[in-house]
Amino acid sequence: QLILDTLHENSTIPDTRSLVIPGQSEPASSQEAQITILGALNSLLSRDMVKVETHEIVSHVLTPEGSQIAAQGSHEARVWAALPEKGQSSPLTVVELKKQVGDETAKVGQSRGFKNGWIGKEGAGFVKLVSTIKDTTQLDLVEVQSSGTLKSGEKDLADLRKRKLILQRKGQWFTVQKGPEFSTSTAKPETDLTVEMLTSGSWKTSTYKKYNFEAEGAPTAGGALHPLLKVREDIRNIFLEMGFAEMPTASFVESAFWCFDALFVPQQHPARETQDTFYVSDPPHSLQPNLEYYKKVSTVHEHGGFGSMGYRAPWSHEESSKLLLRTHTTASSTHMLYKLAARCRGEDMEGDQPTTSKNGEKDDGFRPAKLFSIDRVFRNEAMDATHLAEFHQVEGVVADRNLTLADLIGFMKTFFSKMGIEQVRFKPAYNPYTEPSLEIFAFHPLLNKWVEVGNSGMFRPEMLEPMGFPKDVRVHGWGLGLERPTMIRYGINNIRTLVGHKVPIESIENTPAPRL
Ligand code: PHE
Repeated sequence: QLILDTLHENSTIPDTRSLVIPGQSEPASSQEAQITILGALNSLLSRDMVKVETHEIVSHVLTPEGSQIAAQGSHEARVWAALPEKGQSSPLTVVELKKQVGDETAKVGQSRGFKNGWIGKEGAGFVKLVSTIKDTTQLDLVEVQSSGTLKSGEKDLADLRKRKLILQRKGQWFTVQKGPEFSTSTAKPETDLTVEMLTSGSWKTSTYKKYNFEAEGAPTAGGALHPLLKVREDIRNIFLEMGFAEMPTASFVESAFWCFDALFVPQQHPARETQDTFYVSDPPHSLQPNLEYYKKVSTVHEHGGFGSMGYRAPWSHEESSKLLLRTHTTASSTHMLYKLAARCRGEDMEGDQPTTSKNGEKDDGFRPAKLFSIDRVFRNEAMDATHLAEFHQVEGVVADRNLTLADLIGFMKTFFSKMGIEQVRFKPAYNPYTEPSLEIFAFHPLLNKWVEVGNSGMFRPEMLEPMGFPKDVRVHGWGLGLERPTMIRYGINNIRTLVGHKVPIESIENTPAPRL
């Protein structure tokens, strides 16, 4: 308020050391006072009420001894004051003097008192030699205390410094002008325009807080993609780049027919047992698949066909019509392949009748396809740090005439290299629905070992031919988990910190987009 009032009267404050702070008799020339003034200036500055120019100076403060002298006088002055005047009463002995002013003051004051000609010896004691003295040390220190310096100059300051009565210190003082928002009122500026201000008209005279365009915005509470979804997007883009189309995979519940039988998985296969597969009890049975196709599938299982001897075990319709949570996305791929073969079966042509090819052969309706899916599957297995009862599979399927195992390997090499995995190895494996089958291993540079990343193979004729595919059509496919590459990518070693209720929400918000 003092600053604002002074500016209001004089329109400028050339030197803040000349301000007289209310309640003080002397101008605010000390550094302590300037620090107080700086606090007030900063708060006015933030509201653009003043403009300030800072001046750096070298200033001085008193040491504890200096402060004592400023208050009580110099040692020599105190000694002088304690002594009787010459000839008035008996001289004071050293012992008496020490008693009155203390050892230190007696010692220092005595010698400086002699030097100044203020005191003298008389017999065994001391007396005053002059009736008045001028205690310049005290006067100088009082001056330094209030102004931080001496008018008499650097020589005297240096002397006081040498006597360890004052210390040099960096200081500041300020020149103050009115700022663009100058006003004599320190009332808080308004931050909102209210209905009351509009109706009363007070908005015209109010001062408003300025926008701070430099301020950092508050973090927004927006949604964030889960790391699995980010990796899924990454992999989806690889497939799309390679010309694959995404399969519809929304049906988590499948029949055993589509999940196993149509894939030529024997009805006695251990994977179909309840400890591996979740069965659905209500409704108890699936709808009947296309009867002609169903008969072909059951026949190839029971008696063989298409060059196969079949499993030669009795077919169970009951087993085939069970409903379950799909154990692999290959159930969806099988659906799609059956649909793809529709043209070969002469169905579902949508006005596109079989044609005759260039070399005069009749078009058998087959059209090549590259399909992929990334979706959820379910397995009834013990959960631990790396296994959950539900997880995601990534699956690619390619259908064309005369594909070979080399085509499959080539596809996978390209696919994995796009995922950042350059070193892949293939190991012969067994799947009921593919022959040959290959497990895929990738060298992981961080783990410094080969890790299994997927499974693949050429779908068997027992699966493809009942659908109606011509004999020269080969379909190969590969599948991999989504969780494992994601865990490796983000350095997560417990699946529960990636999926489920124990996932820290910040990890979802803060994980960067992946580079596999
Ligand atoms: N369905 C297989 C699995 O669950 C993966 C696979 C897909 C294998 C396609 C061969 C062909 O592991």
